[in-house]
Amino acid sequence: MTLETSQTKQAAVKVASGHTYERLPMPDLTFTKEIAEATAPLYEKVKHHIPEIEWPVHAPYVYWINKLKKERDATILAHNYQTPEIYHCVSDIAGDSLQLAMEATRVKEQVIIQCGVHFMAETSKLLNPDKTVLIPDMRAGCSLAESITGEDVRLLREANPGVPIVTYVNTSADVKAESDICCTSSNAVAVVESFGVDTVLLIPDEYLAQNVAKETDVKILTWKGHCEVHERFTAEELLAYREADPEIQIIAHPECPTEVTAIADFTGSTKGMIDYAVGQKPGAKVLLVTECSMASNIQEQAPGVEFIKPCNLCPHMKRITLPRILDSLLEMKEEVLVDPTMAAKARQAVERMVNLKN
Ligand code: 13P
Ligand code: SF4
Repeated sequence: MTLETSQTKQAAVKVASGHTYERLPMPDLTFTKEIAEATAPLYEKVKHHIPEIEWPVHAPYVYWINKLKKERDATILAHNYQTPEIYHCVSDIAGDSLQLAMEATRVKEQVIIQCGVHFMAETSKLLNPDKTVLIPDMRAGCSLAESITGEDVRLLREANPGVPIVTYVNTSADVKAESDICCTSSNAVAVVESFGVDTVLLIPDEYLAQNVAKETDVKILTWKGHCEVHERFTAEELLAYREADPEIQIIAHPECPTEVTAIADFTGSTKGMIDYAVGQKPGAKVLLVTECSMASNIQEQAPGVEFIKPCNLCPHMKRITLPRILDSLLEMKEEVLVDPTMAAKARQAVERMVNLKN
């Protein structure tokens, strides 16, 4: 059965751009021979992470999402923490926060489906005000984004006159709008140093700020926000792994506490961690101190490397699933909107970051 023959016309949905889309009914999710054949090359990419017995459940979603993406003129941007079936089987572009923000500026399609958390979708919308940006689950938040408001930033500015405010992209548009520039974990040191001043506010992640402070002479003032995933890793836990195997390479995300990154052989953004892991010799054992899905997503790029995952899941990233992505495409939901006045100010902070020459 094709999508065209299974459709019965339903009410249309109008998005903010004024464009009207037909709301489509749920396609038949039977694992047919046609679907098995069409998705077989994609299964090859995830066969080490998804048991063969489970593939008939995922494959119809993968098939219809990829088909509908073309019909809807949509592209799927996926963060490195998305599950392997999203990362490898339906995404068009996958990466860390900086890569996704940069790629968002180059998207040709009219619709962006953001497989990640809400602040990432908002960043894509800021950079593409005329496009339709959808997030498969509006509840996909972030403990860092929730730790601070625009009003907090205004008060910080009053209390620290003349001190530039650098805001981590893991924040709401309201917070970005009150900032001088954004940063991600990939470029935080360069952004902080770009002002050529003695003191900078780097908010809201206290641990990122402390990790950046170790790499620069600029005095960093910060806030008490934490990532609920990375704050759970402890030095004791990592030392136990190192004691068990002194050769192990420990690589950590800079949202981890400083006592954790002090033990790590390398600290960097999710892209930095991927590049480091892929550069290891075959036979190396690499402990990934970050969200669980990343090791599965990058195993194919580093076939000889054994990944050890202490494994903390981000419950917000995990709200994005294949059924929800399909729903997004069928019903053109949930649309991410930003108040235009706030968006104009927040966009400046994001664009300053994107345009910063390192
Ligand atoms: P990256 O920019 O390193 O991908 O980090 C985003 C994030 O949310 C990590 O928790
Ligand atoms: Fe936010 Fe942490 Fe989840 Fe990243 S991993 S989205 S910083 S809660």
